[in-house]
Amino acid sequence: MQVRVCLAVSLCGAAAAAPAALVSANGQVAALPSWDLQSSARVEGDVAALSKTGVDTSSWHKVNTPFCTLMGCLINSGVYNDTDLFFSDNLSRVDAKQFAVPWLYRHEFSLEPAPGKHFFLQTHGISSRADIYLNGKQVANKSQQAGSYAGHRYDVTDVAADSNAITIRVYPTDYNYDLAIGWVDWNPWPADNGTGVWRAVEIKQTGSVVLGPLRVATELSTPLGSQPATVKLKSRARNLEKTAITILASGYVTAVSGSEPVAWSKNITLQPGVTDVVLETTIQKPEIWWPRQWGGQPLYDANLTVTTNGSISDYASARFGFRTVTSKLNSYNDTTFYVNGEPFQVVGGGYAPDMFLRWDPKRLEKELKYTLDLGFNTIRLEGKNEHPGLYELADQLGLMIMAGWECCDKWEAWSYNDNLDILSLWTDADHAAANASMHHEAAMMQTHPSMLAYLIGSDFWPDENATTMYLNAFKSLDWQAPVICSASKRGFSPQTGPSGLKMDGPYDWVPPSYWFDTQGYQYGAAFGFGSELGAGVGTPDLSSLKKFLSKSDLEDLWKSPNKGLFHMSTATSTFHDRAIYNKGVWGRLGAPSSLEDYVQKSQMTDYEATRAQFEGFASMWNAQRPATGLIYWMLTSAFPSLHWNIWDYYLRPSGGYFGAKVGSRIEHVAYDYVRKSVTLINRSLNKSGKRTVEISIITTAGKGVYNSSVEATTAPNTSKNIVSLASPIAKIKDVVFVRLLLKDDKSAVLSRNVYWLTKDIDVLDWAKSDWYWTPVSKYSNFTGLNKLAAANVSVSVTKGSGTTVVELENKSAVPAFFVSLSLTDAKGEDVLPVTWSDNYVTLWPKEKLSLTVSVLEGGGVPSVVDVVGKNVARTSVRFE
Ligand SMILES: *[C@@H]1O[C@H](CO)[C@@H](O)[C@H](O)[C@H]1NC(C)=O
Ligand SMILES: *[C@@H]1O[C@H](CO)[C@@H](O)[C@H](O)[C@H]1NC(C)=O
Ligand SMILES: *[C@@H]1O[C@H](CO)[C@@H](O)[C@H](O)[C@H]1NC(C)=O
Ligand SMILES: *[C@@H]1O[C@H](CO)[C@@H](O)[C@H](O)[C@H]1NC(C)=O
Ligand SMILES: *[C@@H]1O[C@H](CO)[C@@H](O)[C@H](O)[C@H]1NC(C)=O
Ligand SMILES: *[C@@H]1O[C@H](CO)[C@@H](O)[C@H](O)[C@H]1NC(C)=O
Ligand SMILES: *[C@@H]1O[C@H](CO)[C@@H](O)[C@H](O)[C@H]1NC(C)=O
Ligand SMILES: *[C@@H]1O[C@H](CO)[C@@H](O)[C@H](O)[C@H]1NC(C)=O
Ligand SMILES: *[C@@H]1O[C@H](CO)[C@@H](O)[C@H](O)[C@H]1NC(C)=O
Ligand SMILES: *[C@@H]1O[C@H](CO)[C@@H](O)[C@H](O)[C@H]1NC(C)=O
Repeated sequence: MQVRVCLAVSLCGAAAAAPAALVSANGQVAALPSWDLQSSARVEGDVAALSKTGVDTSSWHKVNTPFCTLMGCLINSGVYNDTDLFFSDNLSRVDAKQFAVPWLYRHEFSLEPAPGKHFFLQTHGISSRADIYLNGKQVANKSQQAGSYAGHRYDVTDVAADSNAITIRVYPTDYNYDLAIGWVDWNPWPADNGTGVWRAVEIKQTGSVVLGPLRVATELSTPLGSQPATVKLKSRARNLEKTAITILASGYVTAVSGSEPVAWSKNITLQPGVTDVVLETTIQKPEIWWPRQWGGQPLYDANLTVTTNGSISDYASARFGFRTVTSKLNSYNDTTFYVNGEPFQVVGGGYAPDMFLRWDPKRLEKELKYTLDLGFNTIRLEGKNEHPGLYELADQLGLMIMAGWECCDKWEAWSYNDNLDILSLWTDADHAAANASMHHEAAMMQTHPSMLAYLIGSDFWPDENATTMYLNAFKSLDWQAPVICSASKRGFSPQTGPSGLKMDGPYDWVPPSYWFDTQGYQYGAAFGFGSELGAGVGTPDLSSLKKFLSKSDLEDLWKSPNKGLFHMSTATSTFHDRAIYNKGVWGRLGAPSSLEDYVQKSQMTDYEATRAQFEGFASMWNAQRPATGLIYWMLTSAFPSLHWNIWDYYLRPSGGYFGAKVGSRIEHVAYDYVRKSVTLINRSLNKSGKRTVEISIITTAGKGVYNSSVEATTAPNTSKNIVSLASPIAKIKDVVFVRLLLKDDKSAVLSRNVYWLTKDIDVLDWAKSDWYWTPVSKYSNFTGLNKLAAANVSVSVTKGSGTTVVELENKSAVPAFFVSLSLTDAKGEDVLPVTWSDNYVTLWPKEKLSLTVSVLEGGGVPSVVDVVGKNVARTSVRFE
C-alpha cells in the first residue's frame, strides 16, 4: 500500500491541539504507550520517511499496549483470537510466512525540547534485532539493537522535536542464529518466533547529567537485624557536557513501612563522560527480608537524585531488601543455598510465560499466589526473564527467583554443545549482544531480595570468553547473589567451579518409588539438587480439557494412548505423546472405561507422582547425601498443555497440584516407598517440640489391619525417619490405604496424608535409564481400586466471609476414595483461581473432614460445589 505523507495536519484529520508531552520534567521516564503495526511487505517507502510525523497509518493495525510480539499485537488488535488459536490444532494453521519479512512499529508523541534538556530513547530488548528511526533519522541499526534482552540507551537530544515519530523495523527471529526467547520442546513455537517490541520502549528526559540504573549494595552483620547495615547507592552518571560539572548527589533510603528514613548528600565534580557515583549510609536496625515460609518481607525504597545548579538533572530509584543469599558445594559437589545464613532447601517449579509473551501482571499475581499456596519457595526462569513486575511481586510475596539463560539454541552455541550442527558459533557481534543482555538483566534484578541465583547457562556452561564477560558484568553491577555456571553437571569453567546442580531427568512418567531409591543417585532421585525434573504429569481436569480439545481430541486421549498430540511437546519431541505415561496408567490402574474414567485415573496418577517427588526431596533433606533442592518441571505452561504444569492454563488446580501441595507442607509426615518407613518433615525455622503421628492401615473393604501412634520430637529445618512400617506392609494382600496424621502437642492436626499402596512397589529397570526416564519392568497392581464398593458421602457447605467451609462425612463402612471438589458459578463455569485447604481426599469409614476454600481476586462468585470420588457418585450442592 501507498504511504501518504500529509502535507498539512488537517489533511490527515489529526486533532489540532498538541497532545501533552510524553515526559516534561528531568528524571522522568515514560513508555511509548501504543503502536501502529504493519508488515514491511504491505508498506511502500523507506523507513526513514515513515518515521516522520504525519504519515497516514489509518490502515495499519492499532495496538493499545506499550509492548507486544507480532502475534501478541495481532491478538491485541483483533486479527487473531486466542480462544480460537488454542483450540485443537488451530495454532498450526497460522501463516508463518507473513513473519518471514520485517515488520514496522510506529508511534507519534510530543516532547518539549529546550536548551539544557537532554532526551534518551531506552530499549529493554527487541526480538531479535531492530533498526530504530526517529524523526527521519536512524538512531540504531540492527547490529547494535540485537538480542531479546539487550537494553540500550540512545541519546536522541539532537533529533527530539515538539512533535516526534518513531518507527522500529523488527527483523525475523531464528532461535538458532539469534539471542532470542525460544521454547525448545515446551510447546509449539509461535509462528512469529516471538519477534517484536516485547518490552517497553521508553523516552527519558534529563538535564546535564544522566544516571544509569540504581544499584544498592548492602552489607549486613550478624546477628541479622540487630547490627547496623551499610547501604551504598550507586549509579553510573554521565556528564553530557564538554566541561566538568559539580553536582549535588542526594541519597534517600526509607523503609516502605515509613521507619528510619535517611537522607544525605554530597557534592561531586564530574568530568565529561562516565563516573560511578556512590553514596553510602548506615541503617541502624535493618528489618530483614525472608522467604514467605520463614518470615516477613519488609522492603525499603532508595533514591539517588542528581542536582545541578539547584535543579534536578536526573534521579534513579529502586525498592530493595536486606537479606543475604549464598551457596556452597557440599562434599558431593551438590549446591546448597543459604538465605540469611540458614540452609535453604529449594522447593519450586520452572516458569513458562505466555507463548506470545503477553504480560498480564494480574494473572502472574494469581500464579505466584498459587505457588505460595503450594508451599513452594522458588521459581526458576530459564531464559524467560519477563518484566520488572515479576521481581517486584516476588519481593512482596516472599518467593525466591532463580533466573538464567536458556538452553538448546543460540544462547548455548559452544563448540562442545552436542547440537552444534544446527547452531552457529558466536561471532564478536553475538558476544557484544550477550554482554549487553547480561548487563541489562543483572541491572534489572540487582536490587531485588527475591534473587536466589543467576544461571549463566542451562544445559551447557558458557565457554571461557563468555564466562569472563558474564562474570565481569555481574561484578560491575554489584551483584549480590550466587552466579552458577549451568543447571547441569556436564562441565564448568574454572572461573566458576562446578554448578552443583544436576539435570539427569526424569521428564516423563516414573512411579512414586523412583524418588526414594538410592539406585537413582546418578539420575533424578531425591539426592542433590535437581534443576528440572518431574514425572511428566499435569493432566488438566475435564472442565479445562473441554475448553481446548475437540471431541475427537478428547477421544484420542483414552482411545489412542500412543498417539502424538498437539497439546503436548512439539511434534519432533520425545514428549509429543503420552505413551510412557499411559502405559503406567493402563499397567497400574487398568484400561480406562470412558473419558471420565481416564481423566480420573490421570488425576490419581498425577497426585501420586507429584506428592512422591516433593516428599522424596523433603524426606532426604538430611540424608547422607542430602537432597538440597528441586525445580519441578514445570510450574506453568505457555499454552493449554496436557503435561508439565502444576496447574493448567485456565488456572484450575487438579491432581498434580494437590499432590504437590500435600508434599510441600511446612510440617509434614510422609511415607518412604522404598524404606517402607515414615518421615517427619519440618520446613519451618521456628516450630519445634513434641509431635504425635497416628498411623492407620485399612483394606479396600474398610477393614482395619494396623493402627499405631508414634511420639516424636521435631526440630526446625530438618527431616528424619521415625518409624518403619515394613512389617505391616509385608502382610498386605491386595490394595490398602494408609493414613498418616501428624498432631501437635495440643492434638491439632498439622498434616493428614493418605496413600494407596500394594504389597510390591513398581520395579524400576535402572540399567535402562535414559535422559528422560527410567522404565518400569513390573507395575504395581492397583486394579482393586476399580472394585471399591460405593461410598456415601454427605456434603454440607457454610459460606463465611472470604472462605467457604465444606464438611464431608463418609457415612459408609468403606473408604471414600479420591474425592475431589470444585466450585462453579450460577452458570456452571469454574470459579478460578481458588485455594483449597486440601482436595482429592480419601476418607476413612465414618470419617468427617472439613475443607476450606477461598476464591482469589477475579475468581467470580461461587454458588455450587461439585463433589465426586472414585467410588463416590457425583453430587452438586448449591449454596447460594
Ligand atoms: C474470542 O473468541 C471467543 C470464542 O469464539 C469469544 O468468546 C471471545 O469473546 C473472543 N475474544 C475476543 C477478544 O474477541
Ligand atoms: C479454529 O480455527 C478456525 C479457522 O482456522 C476457526 O474457524 C474455528 O472457529 C476455530 N475453532 C475454534 C473452535 O475456535
Ligand atoms: C551500526 O551502528 C554501529 C554503532 O553506531 C556502527 O558501528 C555500525 O557501523 C553500524 N552498522 C551498520 C551496518 O550500519
Ligand atoms: C523460527 O525459528 C526457526 C528455527 O530457529 C526457523 O527455522 C524458522 O524459520 C523461524 N521462523 C520465522 C518465521 O522466522
Ligand atoms: C555543596 O556545595 C554547596 C555550594 O558550595 C554548598 O552550599 C553545600 O553545603 C554543599 N553540600 C554538601 C552536602 O556538601
Ligand atoms: C526520587 O527523587 C525524585 C527527586 O527528588 C522524586 O521526584 C521522586 O519522586 C523520588 N522517587 C521515589 C521513588 O522516591
Ligand atoms: C550552572 O550555573 C553556572 C552559572 O550560572 C553556569 O556557568 C553553568 O553552566 C551551570 N551549570 C550547569 C550544569 O547548568
Ligand atoms: C568435585 O568437583 C571437583 C572439581 O572442582 C573435583 O575435583 C572433585 O573430584 C569433585 N568431587 C566429587 C565428590 O565429585
Ligand atoms: C574470545 O574472544 C576474543 C575477542 O572477542 C576472540 O578473538 C576469540 O576468538 C574468542 N575465543 C573463543 C575461544 O571464542
Ligand atoms: C491384580 O489384582 C487383582 C485383585 O485386585 C487380581 O484380580 C488380578 O489378577 C491382578 N492382576 C495381575 C496382573 O496380577
